[in-house]
Amino acid sequence: MCSIIGYYGNGLAAPILVRGLKRMEYRGYDSVGVATKDKAILLKKGVGKVADVNNLLHLDSLPGSVGIGHTRWATHGSVTDVNAHPHPSSSGQIAIVHNGIIDNYEELKSELQQKGYQFKSQTDSEAIANLLQFNYDQTQDIKKSMIQTVSRLKGHYAFVAMFQDGTLSAARYHEPLIVGVGKRSYFLSSDVLGFIEKTDVAIYLDNGEFVMLNKGGLEIYDFEGRPVKHQTTKVSKEFADAYKGDYAHFTLKEISEQPSTIIRAGESSGDAINSVTDFIKHAKSVYITGSGTSYNAALVAKYLWQKYAKVKVEPIISSELSFSPETVEPNSILIAISQSGESADVLEAVNIARKSNAKIFSIVNILTSSLAQESSLVIGMNCGPEIGVAATKSFTSQLGIIYKITEKLCDGCIKVDSAKISEAVSEVLLDHSKIKHIAKELRDITDIYILGRAVHYPIAAESALKLKELSYIHAEGIPGGELKHGPLALMDSNVYVIIINPGDHTYSDTLTSAREIKARGAKIIGISNKPSDVYDHWIEIPTVDEVFYPLIEIIPIQLLSYYSAIEKNTDPDYPRNLAKSVTVK
Ligand code: G6P
Repeated sequence: MCSIIGYYGNGLAAPILVRGLKRMEYRGYDSVGVATKDKAILLKKGVGKVADVNNLLHLDSLPGSVGIGHTRWATHGSVTDVNAHPHPSSSGQIAIVHNGIIDNYEELKSELQQKGYQFKSQTDSEAIANLLQFNYDQTQDIKKSMIQTVSRLKGHYAFVAMFQDGTLSAARYHEPLIVGVGKRSYFLSSDVLGFIEKTDVAIYLDNGEFVMLNKGGLEIYDFEGRPVKHQTTKVSKEFADAYKGDYAHFTLKEISEQPSTIIRAGESSGDAINSVTDFIKHAKSVYITGSGTSYNAALVAKYLWQKYAKVKVEPIISSELSFSPETVEPNSILIAISQSGESADVLEAVNIARKSNAKIFSIVNILTSSLAQESSLVIGMNCGPEIGVAATKSFTSQLGIIYKITEKLCDGCIKVDSAKISEAVSEVLLDHSKIKHIAKELRDITDIYILGRAVHYPIAAESALKLKELSYIHAEGIPGGELKHGPLALMDSNVYVIIINPGDHTYSDTLTSAREIKARGAKIIGISNKPSDVYDHWIEIPTVDEVFYPLIEIIPIQLLSYYSAIEKNTDPDYPRNLAKSVTVK
């Protein structure tokens, strides 16, 4: 959601913090701020993206070699300069940056107000700054004030606090917090991307731990104050790839990487794929869950496993499970899909399933994530960092893994030839000119529908999600047969409909739907390996073994969504109001 960062070293903190924040902007990006410790605590913050606010306020010119920074994705309080982080305590002697939600902030706030501590913002986070200040005023001891503060906080959080004497202290409770260990310098960050330019040595803190950084170096404690020892980990060099390179946007780079990421999907998790398959074969009930794009991948699994392996699996939207926990039968299997492995809704679904004694398996990209830690078997997507908020390459990697499981589940009735699939994806990516042209036509369109039958329906749903996220066009995925049960009423000459129509068993029914739509005056964009006079625009995809069309047909829609964003002059990497990793419920 938000990103937090801290630096303690002998370099200038502010420029390092600003660079780290730029790399983590995908986590949330409505406002930004930095505070450093010079003679006193200095602070600058404002509404907007990191680069814009920095141009205006020169965040990176703050002096001092200790500092904290934040990019915000508003939850409590609107997007204003005052609500941006860092938040100083009312005396200004402590400043904090926070990611997460403090559930009992109202209670804490009124208690502290009664004691004379003042609040300026509408955020829950400011309660941490004043609670820390109160505890510090009582004890004059940073460690004790941290222990007392975390014992009062309810909710989930990671925060970094900077004290008047230049000490940094940071606590983790159900939100990510990683320590980067550099040469004579330390980093505290929500993501390794915050410090990867400076060091690839990291310590992954556990929930319920806090750190203190001062002249004595780094110390780690549990919430009771007992010292904790951690091994350092070498962060995969892959993370250093998180540059746009020659591409205008991360989203375009990530779409273009798919010929190779599809090959790498699950590559180093062969044993986990075998074991997961074995468990599925012998399980009484199997559930598969995710949010957003990852849920659409779960839907694809349902169709494939049912059709090719006669295995029934129930897809569950993660955020829905807390409202019907009885869905999960005792001793079943829950497969959780998540690129980040940090989506709060997915983690909550896992939590609920665990209560029914379910086995938890996961398909994740970030192997150090909370979800990976919660799972007894983990299949790695292996697609490298995905920075663009709208998931692209992670979706096809998820599908790649689902296909590999299908192959094993049905004892080889389908053959996953990753090289062939990769070639077909490359072919779609070769020429963007037609898609750019269609994107121009869609510039002023307000509604678009995407039709697909059977396994192409989840792709229609994913296409709608991509168009919403990237182009802000209202888009709806429709199972082909449902057209006549309502959506047909909406068809007229202002409407565009994308027909996902590869040459398989769904082909002729879907073509009939296209004709019914055309007869009502709507424009048709056909995605198919076969041409038809019904299409106003035909986006050709190569002919492949029919089971693999979902992996191919999503690519032109990712490109179309990307170019529609460009046409509308919006930022495809950072769609408004969204965040890459939604760590709040
Ligand atoms: C956010 C993003 C979506 C993404 C979803 C799930 O809502 O905006 O694009 O699909 O999170 O993310 P995950 O990391 O759990 O796959």
